[in-house]
Amino acid sequence: MSRTENQKPIIAVCGKGGVGKTALSALLARGFLDLGAKPLLLLDADPAGGLISVIGQKAKSSLALARERMIESARSGDPKAKTRLVQDLDYLVLEALEEREGYAFLAIGRMEEKGCFCPANTLLREAIDLLARPFALVLIDAEAGLEQISRQVTRNVTRVLAVSDGSARSLDTVKLIGEMVGEERMAIVFNRLDEKAASAIVDGLPPALARSPVLGCVPEDKTLLDFDRRGRTLWDLPKDSPARKNAAKIAKALLEEANPVN
Ligand SMILES: Nc1ncnc2c1ncn2[C@@H]1O[C@H](COP(=O)(O)OP(=O)(O)OP(=O)(O)O)[C@@H](O)[C@H]1O
Ligand SMILES: [Mg+2]
Repeated sequence: MSRTENQKPIIAVCGKGGVGKTALSALLARGFLDLGAKPLLLLDADPAGGLISVIGQKAKSSLALARERMIESARSGDPKAKTRLVQDLDYLVLEALEEREGYAFLAIGRMEEKGCFCPANTLLREAIDLLARPFALVLIDAEAGLEQISRQVTRNVTRVLAVSDGSARSLDTVKLIGEMVGEERMAIVFNRLDEKAASAIVDGLPPALARSPVLGCVPEDKTLLDFDRRGRTLWDLPKDSPARKNAAKIAKALLEEANPVN
């Protein structure tokens, strides 16, 4: 029996800076939608953003903005404001969600650290459960590095997808992520590597990482790079482009492990 059986899949794409988390998140999301895994919630948990524009959308609001509004309301002097805080927070967070056909998205946004209210990462951690409720699947494009993992933002995540581009440093990050979240909760994906190069790396992985399934690899794809450079949405990549095709296979593997066929 799979560990994730009967749990709603909440997948966080993590890894060292620049390994392709955002590109992969966008292509996995496209893959999930193409496979009918809807409604899908996309969380852009990187304060620097990226995922939402890569899928050809614009975010009007963010968790950071919701938090600012909450602080303003609490400081407004309205005596009822404090008792309304919890409801307000739920309301503001849900209001920041942008809905589209088959999916919705929300950005964590950037925030100036003011006031004693929980920082965005804590807010995101607490909000994930509430936000996830009406969705079949949640996909999170995490911030580079380990901060969100150490702050337990990924606490309720069913699969931590660690991305490596095959470099020693990206593999060190994968190893650290495994130690922090538990290797069995992590799965590994290679980006910008073909199957041969990825399998050579898999053969050399440290024994602890053998507990983390390797779900596939996305090859270097010139069309993807060109789309990204020109600001074109990666959702418009041709279905048979190498990156989109391989990401679709990884999306399928993620769905299968979440809902194993008996
Ligand atoms: N498979 C690929 N083939 C070609 N180019 C790629 C591929 N994956 C990612 N890239 C390119 O690599 C760059 C970094 O990708 P991306 O922004 O997705 O990384 P990231 O891990 O999200 O970075 P950050 O840590 O800054 O958020 C981008 O220019 C992107 O177009
Ligand atoms: Mg990114």
